[in-house]
Amino acid sequence: MASRNILITGGAGFIGSHVVRLFVNKYPDYNIINLDNLTYAGNLANLSDIENAPNYKFVKADIADLDEMRQIIRENKIDGVIHLAAESHVDRSIKDPFVFARTNVMGTLALLQAAKEYWDSLPDKYENKLFYHISTDEVYGALELTNPEGVPAPFTTKASSKDDMAYGTEFFVETTKYNPHSPYSASKASSDHFVRAYHDTYGMPTLVTNCSNNYGPYQFPEKLIPLFINNIRHRKPLPVYGKGENVRDWLFVEDHARAIDLIFHKGKVAETYNIGGFNEWKNIDLIKVVISTVDRLLGNPEGYSQDLITYVTDRPGHDMRYAIDSRKLQKELGWEPSLQFEEGIEKTVKWYLEHEDWLQNVTSGEYQKYYDSMYADR
Ligand code: NAD
Ligand code: TYD
Repeated sequence: MASRNILITGGAGFIGSHVVRLFVNKYPDYNIINLDNLTYAGNLANLSDIENAPNYKFVKADIADLDEMRQIIRENKIDGVIHLAAESHVDRSIKDPFVFARTNVMGTLALLQAAKEYWDSLPDKYENKLFYHISTDEVYGALELTNPEGVPAPFTTKASSKDDMAYGTEFFVETTKYNPHSPYSASKASSDHFVRAYHDTYGMPTLVTNCSNNYGPYQFPEKLIPLFINNIRHRKPLPVYGKGENVRDWLFVEDHARAIDLIFHKGKVAETYNIGGFNEWKNIDLIKVVISTVDRLLGNPEGYSQDLITYVTDRPGHDMRYAIDSRKLQKELGWEPSLQFEEGIEKTVKWYLEHEDWLQNVTSGEYQKYYDSMYADR
């Protein structure tokens, strides 16, 4: 296999750490450069198992610093970029939208420009180069809950739950018009447009994928699943926004990382691929599965932690339903998820229960103060 120099941004975060690990282990001939500025969400402990690998290097830098991006891309002779670095939490974007515009929009633009300048300076220019941008299904906006009780899902994959349901008739496809509602999704939508504009205007080889909600090990415990596992463990309230009826489509993070690997190597330039497992859950149903899994694994009686459920004021502009149609990726590139949801949740809960030290480490200090202030007004 030919050697390549691949820059993975946001590799110290949740999804990025799984992508870095997969590439470092699977491609010993590639040089993997993990670029991350270690915000509250970035943690090098996520990669302690591969930190000494000969094909791995970590660089601490801010993607919004254009000069630094130019230097890093040139010095490392980067020929492929897999861009995951971002501010990623909707609730934070509601409190402070500016940092989302800075990192997600200006940061992506700086990376695009730095890669373009370096590739333009080479004799073979854009040949065997790729700028792969990781985005979210949230840019498409919200789907309606036309079947609030749920009907059997029209499409399934291995990721689908045993009792898989769909809560509406529409799904996000690659041609669905962008209609973001939160400052987070607005910033991701804007960055997606810049990535496509660099292809359409300058001919730069770019590609975008939009994935549904991920879950699994190393997710920062401000997101629903790890937050609730941690709170159940410590007998803290579980803040359910609104009536808990919003629907999300969940994919195990390693299946997302495998899709990124496949698309990076086999995806068509300028295309968009949606990634998801046809695995829709109403928040309140998902929360009950998480509670019963944690209780069972801790040896608590069935229903022990149900009383922790606390309905709180809804998130402003809370998108009702996300549901991804990933048939293009399945048909064109043969991707399919490897894990059924019930297995994925079991694995995830076990991981958090066995990594109390990791949770303690990332939730101490500043983060805890921030978390307490978030819920003071709900
Ligand atoms: P995360 O918040 O866990 O990690 C983000 C990483 O980016 C962190 O390591 C952080 O330190 C780094 N970072 C932030 N600002 C930076 C900057 N200015 N310069 C350099 N590094 C910076 O996020 P995640 O959940 O792993 O998401 C990764 C990507 O996948 C994001 O682009 C997100 O929009 C997208 N995505 C996430 C999900 C999901 O369910 N988590 C679903 C679809 C798409
Ligand atoms: P989250 O994990 O923040 O992901 P996203 O908003 O990107 O989908 O939230 C998942 C769902 O859970 C979303 O509908 C909001 C809801 N939620 C709660 O009800 N309580 C919480 O404390 C959190 C963090 C989320």
